[in-house]
Amino acid sequence: MNIEELITQALEAMDRAYAPYSGYKVGAALLCKDGTVYQGCNIENAAYSPTVCAERTAFFRAVCDGQRDFAAIAVCGGKNGVITGFFPPCGVCRQVMREFCADDFTVYLIGKDRTYQRLTLSELLPFSFSLED
Ligand code: THU
Repeated sequence: MNIEELITQALEAMDRAYAPYSGYKVGAALLCKDGTVYQGCNIENAAYSPTVCAERTAFFRAVCDGQRDFAAIAVCGGKNGVITGFFPPCGVCRQVMREFCADDFTVYLIGKDRTYQRLTLSELLPFSFSLED
């Protein structure tokens, strides 16, 4: 699985986002160390707070399937599914990533025209609180 394939999977997941309230469609593709990819999209709700982000959808699907070892996640998003810039994971999703991933877990932020930025979880969530604490 290379980054180009992971980008394609995240873009595909973004198209399936359910976001009638914010209009922001977000997609994620989570790569497990065994090569399996789990897609996630944001799923909104009329009551707002039950909304779940794309990254957490992907993680929870994977964990429910018995996965525990993750290599990378690619994330994209934009208003009405149009990517105009990078769409960084929210703080809650960063914390969920930290539950299952080490500091060197790779996060690819996908921008316009399949450009991407490669970050580590520790760059996104420094001095984190985790199981080790
Ligand atoms: N959203 C995500 O899917 N991932 C994030 O990390 C940030 C926000 C979604 C939630 C909501 O449906 C929409 O983007 C606007 O906040």
